[in-house]
Amino acid sequence: MAVDFVVSLLLFIFVDNISLFMMKGKHILVGVTGGIAAYKTAYLIRNFVKQGAEVRVVMTEMAKQFITPLTLATLSQNPIAVDFFDPENGQWNSHVSLGLWADCYVIAPATANTLAKMANGVADNLLLTTYLSAKCPTVVAPAMDLDMYRHPATQQNLQTLASRGVTVVEAESGFLASGLEGKGRMAEPETIADAVADIFKRSDKMVGKTVMVTAGPTYEKLDPVRFIGNYSSGKMGYAICEELASRGANVILVSGPVKVSARHKNIKVVKVESAHEMYEACVDNFPKADAAIMTAAVADYTPEFRAEQKIKRIGDMSISLKATEDIAARMGQMKSPSQRLVGFALETNDEEFNAEKKLAKKNLDFIVLNSLNDKGAGFGVDTNKITIIESNGMKTAYDLKPKTEVASDIVSKLEEYL
Ligand code: CTP
Repeated sequence: MAVDFVVSLLLFIFVDNISLFMMKGKHILVGVTGGIAAYKTAYLIRNFVKQGAEVRVVMTEMAKQFITPLTLATLSQNPIAVDFFDPENGQWNSHVSLGLWADCYVIAPATANTLAKMANGVADNLLLTTYLSAKCPTVVAPAMDLDMYRHPATQQNLQTLASRGVTVVEAESGFLASGLEGKGRMAEPETIADAVADIFKRSDKMVGKTVMVTAGPTYEKLDPVRFIGNYSSGKMGYAICEELASRGANVILVSGPVKVSARHKNIKVVKVESAHEMYEACVDNFPKADAAIMTAAVADYTPEFRAEQKIKRIGDMSISLKATEDIAARMGQMKSPSQRLVGFALETNDEEFNAEKKLAKKNLDFIVLNSLNDKGAGFGVDTNKITIIESNGMKTAYDLKPKTEVASDIVSKLEEYL
């Protein structure tokens, strides 16, 4: 259990802003149509700019009634385009060059009217002509009243756009400007920004792949009210899941009891408690996966007997423990030639020697080694330092870096194997 305890310390990682470095230098064109949710677009633009993206804005005439061009020009640090030309000086706003400039076109809020026009190729304003001529991925964030949103015409238009590759960031439920309550509110700016980050991160290697990840601790019951556990937060495993899902993989997350939660819609969580439950869930799910990453701090021992009733204080006592299944080693036996398997190792001494032994014993493709002797790696810090040891003998030592970037390094290494 001592090793599990230390492993859990290293699994500490913050999941926030995993996409930060993906936005840097990207050209994002924001289209604003006439809905009350346009005020949230100010936050969306600020979010993009803060992440280092270059933002330009195109608005419809109606959108100007909801938020001023001055606000959006100030936030985006660029003039706003509304008309095909500037009536004051005749300067032409070319929809073609706007569309070519953009790495991503985000229309937020997208009204029922604009969605219908997009679905039917209507081009009666600059925002729409730009959509028709843009070559980049498009994201729409619908915002309208609940009846308009659920109307078959709107739903069909959204389906049409989705079938043509447009990313639809679904409206959320809540209070609407009309005073009614229901589905129709524009998604929060962070959700829309995440969808855009996913587009930039999408990788051909991951789209359509299924990856199983184990994460968190396991709890081994002693009696109805007590268990043997460890301090694993599960955050490293969860960060890896977010990274995989952002790149387009379907993730099966077999998770022990943790406080963190999975955010991405492509992560399916299978909740387990004990090492044996985790073992069964992995045996069930691994055959569906192209790869597995074993980050969980699995208890190596479980009580030999579980008391049916609460154990009473009777003076000194000892507990007899039996070994649990080695889940990673079992996956290594089950692994087909096309499947990939990744493990973790935290070591305090003879680090590389011990990690190499685990790599071979568990039939892993590569193992992620953390050494407690490295400064800046470990519990309570936002950074980590890993070495990846591959079955072909290759070793790569990574610099000390934020733990979110460590998750990205691990997933990039896995991509080399897929
Ligand atoms: N692992 C597992 N099932 C277990 C124990 C470990 O799947 N019962 C996995 C971990 O998720 C990790 C790798 O095996 O990916 C190595 O875990 P670690 O605890 O470092 O190794 P052990 O095999 O338990 O060896 P020891 O504790 O003796 O160092």
